[in-house]
Amino acid sequence: MDVFSPLGWRDGVLHLLDQRRLPTEERWIECRDEAAVAEAIRDMTVRGAPAIGCTAAFGVALAALRAAESGAGGPELRRRVGAAADLLAAARPTAVNLFWALAEMRRPVADDPGHAAEELAARAVGIWRDDIARCVAIGRAGAALVPDGATILTHCNAGALATGGYGTALGVVRGAVEAKKRVRVLADETRPFLQGARLTAWELHRDGIEVLLIADGAAAWMMARGEVTCVVVGADRIAMNGDVANKIGTYGVALAAHEHGLPFYVAAPLSTFDPNCAHGGLIPIEERDPDEVRRIAGIAIAPAGVGALNPAFDVTPAKLVSAIITERGVVRPPFASLRNLLTDEGS
Ligand code: MRU
Repeated sequence: MDVFSPLGWRDGVLHLLDQRRLPTEERWIECRDEAAVAEAIRDMTVRGAPAIGCTAAFGVALAALRAAESGAGGPELRRRVGAAADLLAAARPTAVNLFWALAEMRRPVADDPGHAAEELAARAVGIWRDDIARCVAIGRAGAALVPDGATILTHCNAGALATGGYGTALGVVRGAVEAKKRVRVLADETRPFLQGARLTAWELHRDGIEVLLIADGAAAWMMARGEVTCVVVGADRIAMNGDVANKIGTYGVALAAHEHGLPFYVAAPLSTFDPNCAHGGLIPIEERDPDEVRRIAGIAIAPAGVGALNPAFDVTPAKLVSAIITERGVVRPPFASLRNLLTDEGS
């Protein structure tokens, strides 16, 4: 399957599609060390939980390659890999895929520096490929929930751009299209960073999948008018009781779906589940620069000097989630079996 990915790995260099410039410009940047990768995650050149995880894995691999080039031996190489993982872990706090991927990369490496670096690069490629495979499996599992002729409302971008490729919520859309179902997508614009308008609309339009952009404030009214069949969103972290952290505004969409009796589905790989998090109240919520709210594309839309708050994520309580679509199939409430799902994954 030919899958579009927001990252590329060629000759020991990480290439990232600069998502801040979409949809007007398709520019790729090159990262040659862990500092550049950490900066790309922090400034949202790359974003979306699984994509952040894959990118961070390459950041660790780049640190190992640079260390091996400078002749660093086994213990020194391990020290530099650990330091790189610490640096990358500090880039963004909410998406647990970042910490999951770094844990995968921290596992012991060979003593021979050259071999160790190659081993870590291969591990990062493996994490990336595996993420695409997980998304395709999520798409197949989720397609069964989507009726022919459905209008799917989504929030933010949980598509190819947010993953190794193919997408989670948009993976379900792609899975339904591949199952020959007619679907169309209502994409919330997703203020303040506009991932829906800039990214979801871009990638669905590029793939010839019908997408209609709506203002965030229009979502509940679309539901009231009977124009929504179901909601499918991604996740940044899922707690063991089924509470879901995702882009700010998701909680409001879930409340509206509940009020209108519409299914609210969360699509996510098991790398988004946090075994150390009992409930959503424990999930760290990133607070971003208030200027993202006060400005759009650099233009002020609020009076100079006015205060603003910019929580980047919210938590949707498990009671509003109709099902979680994973690469292992569809999990329905009560979500008591989530931990078992992860135990099986590790075995
Ligand atoms: O701030 P972002 O753009 O990284 O937030 C992304 C989201 O909230 C996505 O919905 C989530 O990461 C799932 S991506 C498959």
